Amino acid sequence: MSKIESILTESRVFTPSEQLKRSVALTEADIAQMYAKAESDHVGFWSDLAREKLDWFKPFTVGLDDSNAPHFKWFSDGELNVSYNCIDRHLETKSDKLAIIFEADDGTVERYTYKELHDQVCRFANTLVAQGVQKGDRVVIYMPMIPQAVIAMQACARIGAIHSVVFGGFSAESLRDRIDDAGARLVITANAGCRGGKTIPLKKAVDEALEKGGDHVRKVIVFRRTKDDVAMKAGRDIDWYEAEAGMSNYHDPVMVDSEHPLFLLYTSGSTGRPKGVQHSTGGYLLNAHATCEWMFDLNEQDVFWCTADVGWITGHTYVAYGPLSVGATMLMFEGVPTYPDAGRFWQVCQDHGVTVFYTAPTAIRALMKFGSDLPSQYDLSKLRILGTVGEPINPEAWIWYYHEIGGGRCPIIDTWWQTETGAHMLAPFPITPLKPGSCTKALPGIDAAIVDEAGQALEDNEGGLLVIKKPWPSMIRTVWGDDDRYQKTYFPLMGSIKNGDSCYVVGDSAYQDEGGYFWILGRIDDVLNVSGHRLGTMEIESALVSHPQVAEAAVVGRPDDIKGEAVSAFVVLNREIPDEGAERDALIQVLRDWVAKEIGAIAKPDDIRFGTNLPKTRSGKIMRRLLKTLARGEEILQDTSTLEDPSVLEQFKKPKRL
Ligand code: WTA
Repeated sequence: MSKIESILTESRVFTPSEQLKRSVALTEADIAQMYAKAESDHVGFWSDLAREKLDWFKPFTVGLDDSNAPHFKWFSDGELNVSYNCIDRHLETKSDKLAIIFEADDGTVERYTYKELHDQVCRFANTLVAQGVQKGDRVVIYMPMIPQAVIAMQACARIGAIHSVVFGGFSAESLRDRIDDAGARLVITANAGCRGGKTIPLKKAVDEALEKGGDHVRKVIVFRRTKDDVAMKAGRDIDWYEAEAGMSNYHDPVMVDSEHPLFLLYTSGSTGRPKGVQHSTGGYLLNAHATCEWMFDLNEQDVFWCTADVGWITGHTYVAYGPLSVGATMLMFEGVPTYPDAGRFWQVCQDHGVTVFYTAPTAIRALMKFGSDLPSQYDLSKLRILGTVGEPINPEAWIWYYHEIGGGRCPIIDTWWQTETGAHMLAPFPITPLKPGSCTKALPGIDAAIVDEAGQALEDNEGGLLVIKKPWPSMIRTVWGDDDRYQKTYFPLMGSIKNGDSCYVVGDSAYQDEGGYFWILGRIDDVLNVSGHRLGTMEIESALVSHPQVAEAAVVGRPDDIKGEAVSAFVVLNREIPDEGAERDALIQVLRDWVAKEIGAIAKPDDIRFGTNLPKTRSGKIMRRLLKTLARGEEILQDTSTLEDPSVLEQFKKPKRL
């Protein structure tokens, strides 16, 4: 394999202050001890942690069962309940402690203590049971970023139902695919969501999705987020509060096996349809819990704010489960960072005394553009730890975040992980020396390495495939309904490695520097990372091709200052290419809207170019590398002699930026 070149040359190191070292729970010695233990006894390390951190109804005796690799079972003869671990076990000591502080888009604030959260989750769990939901049934949650989304997830966990949260920005078509793939029995939604002063109709999308699909769906529970009218289908749709009427505040949590699926979460891969990543109960919760302690040092006084939507894995692990499992107070925010102005995040941090703040590099870059005056108007002195997730953070944004938001006191916890890994994998502890742009080292019990395509270890500073060599508790268990895809996508090296390592292949390229720090270079498959959201190029291509005027389409990413990556589409029409001007602009708009309808607004191409053919080799393979060069607006220096029709390159050169 040609070695992947690195373009980063950041060399600064930020060491922790003595004050920081004194203020966090874990000392250097504690951390060193964890690494040593994990190194010498991988399964014992995780098993001891599982006994210490989680409450088991039935203790487990088997740590890891790897007899059927690459299907791994953790703590498999144990029984527990996630909702019990997140709520009930805290009631004795902190029933009046705030579990959730919620700030709505319009600034309204609601607060829920652990006791109140318990009662609401129980009531809703009883409601789900009354609506016929049983252990193992799939429930789709299509909700705005409001506490009821977390209540719904926790209620599913409580009764052993498997939730599949679909991000509210996905279209009716995407929602239908996910409902059908999971064979969902019930859908939980809201009449609408509120973001940036606008109302987003969610129930309407559910209705559309169920018009042509959703054969298994018996009921739709609708939370009225706004006063707007909502069409209700008799016999199928029920109002959240009407359904809850008369339900008890107590529900006995259902014990499930450690390996019982807690949820599915659909994510993009390099082939056509999104895959339903299936997570477990015990293993998933363990890593969610441990990383909230390790990376965020959450304690009694903290107010933790993770800005991710519950529709993404970050909103699962660091909103719905992890912070509650450790008994922390967390903040949920419904709105957007720039409404009513670009000081909103900092205002929320100030007003609620946020101490640990976790967001995406794309948000930092977007807010950085507004300058340092805005954050300096707010009191951010309570902040003590800052985190990032979802994409590499460029050193410039890192430094701005560190100084302007963290006042030079707060470590930047750059967390590398994936939907499939369930929780942080490569990340610093708060007292780890930091290098801007590096997610530092693998966590204790996470055996990460850089290898070539044959699985051979590479030297320092050589770019290659990032792999995880040993199973870990919160890893993906399978792709829902497509186990073959699970094995082929994530374990292509199985068998080729002699020492028996399982080698989960991440799909990112990276290198390790001489200090052992990891630097992520990007995806090696056809997955784009747009504003920290994963999008498959094939998904966008098939959405474009499904438009009646499109014959062929190829989609590539190009670097974007704010979004990380932007979507560039190259389209061949099955009609004449309209002349530049109003007609072409209108068609571009139509195609962008089409993609928004098929997938969701996040997938809208940023630019669309037309040509009479795609640049293909004589054997018919699309030359994506050429398209990437064109998308970046760079000169083509590659050899184009193998192209079937080199003249198409000229046609595609001129982008129409939107
Ligand atoms: C990328 C999000 C660099 C990576 C939690 C990964 C990152 C994909 C980082 C997973 C980071 C995530 N630095 N790249 N700190 N975190 N990524 O499934 O390419 O939405 O494979 O999970 O995001 O995206 P996903």
